[in-house]
Amino acid sequence: STGLSTAAKSAGKKYFGSATDNPELTNTAYVAELSNVADFSQLTAENSMKWDAIEPNQGQFTFSQGDQILQLAQKNGQLMRGHNCVWHEQLPSWVTNTQWTNATLTAALTNHITNLIGHYKGDMYSWDVVNEPFNEDGSLFSSVFTEFIGPAYIPIALKTARAADPSTKLYINEFNIEFTGAKATAMLNLVKQLKQEGVPVDGIGFQCHFIVGEVPTSFQSILQQFTALGVEVAITELDIRMTLPETTALLQQQQTDYQTVINACRSVANCVGVTVWDYTDEFSWIPGAFPGMGDACPFDSNFNKKPAYQGILNGW
Ligand code: XIL
Repeated sequence: STGLSTAAKSAGKKYFGSATDNPELTNTAYVAELSNVADFSQLTAENSMKWDAIEPNQGQFTFSQGDQILQLAQKNGQLMRGHNCVWHEQLPSWVTNTQWTNATLTAALTNHITNLIGHYKGDMYSWDVVNEPFNEDGSLFSSVFTEFIGPAYIPIALKTARAADPSTKLYINEFNIEFTGAKATAMLNLVKQLKQEGVPVDGIGFQCHFIVGEVPTSFQSILQQFTALGVEVAITELDIRMTLPETTALLQQQQTDYQTVINACRSVANCVGVTVWDYTDEFSWIPGAFPGMGDACPFDSNFNKKPAYQGILNGW
């Protein structure tokens, strides 16, 4: 029968996937569904390729957790999205606590990207090279990278990524750019500027951490505005959370919302695929990050399909 990925591929997309994290991989029922390629043809490491996991001490690289997820994807015949190279969160303390100069932090940044992308060379469909660069007002988020390198950290990261693996698609990944506003405009301007300057950028990732009943009406139009600039787009971290407790009405609205999001990607030719930020409520990050909210995924805590699952199929 039709699955989430087979339906996506029938609509001309490259994949439908899920994020996953290493501790979950001891749960055999969880892994069985994650490995069901009719539903999931792509994996993203939810945490284990982030800077604190990959380079906990300067120059000391630990790939074993990331490798475990790549090996599962390869065993299943699934694509991988790499997540991520440069972000202001989940940084080891040696990055945040050092008095850098422009030159020393640039060297640390390029060394991190060269080793990370180099280790996975040839194995990744895409990389989120830069994650969450903007504030809501469209200014650059202040971090150790803007403090010591400035806005140039973005083109430096992208060029370093291209050199490390010329075959992987280079993405900038962001949230709250799924609707018209200052942040989306800033990202559109950044893409234009990078393209003008010949800086490699292949795609923009839309995280899509949505709330039931609040899927932005401008989402499809925004996707089109980006693809018109000559980049592909992907939905990279989809979940649609609700205030608990769950009700039948909320589950029905969530089904509609999933269908709306998927339909937006279906309708935009260069929207290449969709990734849910884990497929089951059992392992979703939402209750930890948004207290009182949850049940954001297409499968419940017992790995049973929710109405949202049918919403995704309907959307394709
Ligand atoms: C989240 C993970 O899901 C959590 O397990 C972790 O504790 C924090 O990070 N935007 C991103 C992701 O780009 O990396 C985040 O993942 C969710 C928000």
